[in-house]
Amino acid sequence: MDLYLKDKVAIVTGSGEGIGRTTVLTLAEEGAHVVVNDCDLDKAENVAEEAKKLGIKALAVRANVADKKDVDEMVKKVMDEFGKVDILINNAGRSVNREAGRTPRPFVETEKEDWDYAFDVCLYGVFNCTKAVLPDMIKRKYGKIVNMVSDAGRVGEPFMVSYSTAKGGIVVFQKALAKEVGRYNINVNGVSAGYTKTEKLDQFVKEKQEKMSEPKKKEMLETMLKQYPLQRLGETIDLARACAFLSSDVARHITGQTLSVSGGYSMVS
Ligand SMILES: NC(=O)c1ccc[n+]([C@@H]2O[C@H](COP(=O)([O-])OP(=O)(O)OC[C@H]3O[C@@H](n4cnc5c(N)ncnc54)[C@H](O)[C@@H]3O)[C@@H](O)[C@H]2O)c1
Repeated sequence: MDLYLKDKVAIVTGSGEGIGRTTVLTLAEEGAHVVVNDCDLDKAENVAEEAKKLGIKALAVRANVADKKDVDEMVKKVMDEFGKVDILINNAGRSVNREAGRTPRPFVETEKEDWDYAFDVCLYGVFNCTKAVLPDMIKRKYGKIVNMVSDAGRVGEPFMVSYSTAKGGIVVFQKALAKEVGRYNINVNGVSAGYTKTEKLDQFVKEKQEKMSEPKKKEMLETMLKQYPLQRLGETIDLARACAFLSSDVARHITGQTLSVSGGYSMVS
């Protein structure tokens, strides 16, 4: 399907790897110029180089989405380079601060630092980036904002209460904002991921399985798959295609919605 994204300008946050990287490449295949944002510049530059090979313009920008100053500088750079932002994909998000040794844990063992971390990256990241691009979108009466949610934020996930709460906040954020900015022809939607295979998650599962016997490993995978009616785990391209669709005028009459792309893990009416 032609998504008519030729010459649109898209920022994808946290796109140095994983779902964000595949989203950048999918938008680029559809003809959009892409801004590859990551807090790790090397990773962003590598993805931007890949994207350029698809014949579009690509700009790599280091910014921590949780830092308003970083985000404002990034958007200024984008405006100087491209003169507009048509699409913002708020993809950057982390559940716990693994670098600081934090891991998913029971709610009673979580500390304020876990909540601050989840809210800073997942919620304030979305706030900072959206606030920075909206004035131009409102002026031009055109914009697509797509947030990467998680089914954890729709149905709740044990041992991930802070992350679930932050992602759930995005679901309400996009409904409220969609009502506010619809009059400016701006769509605000979310794509909600279930377990999606990325390098980082594969590594995490591998580490968990290291000390397990073969039958235990098999049992772990089977238990996981049972939660997914489609009996498979998501791939980054599944999420990227949904982001591209919601970023396009093909989806022009959809706003304030959350689309779960999770093999049926959550079915919310
Ligand atoms: N992979 C899954 O199973 C899964 C499931 C549900 C939701 N999600 C959501 O999908 C999105 C992408 O997840 P992923 O698994 O592809 O992630 P990932 O960890 O594979 O990649 C995330 C990228 O974002 C960057 N990043 C992290 N924090 C950042 C920040 N503050 N500012 C800028 N860049 C930052 C990282 O450097 C990394 O390159 C996240 O919002 C995540 O919560 C993922």
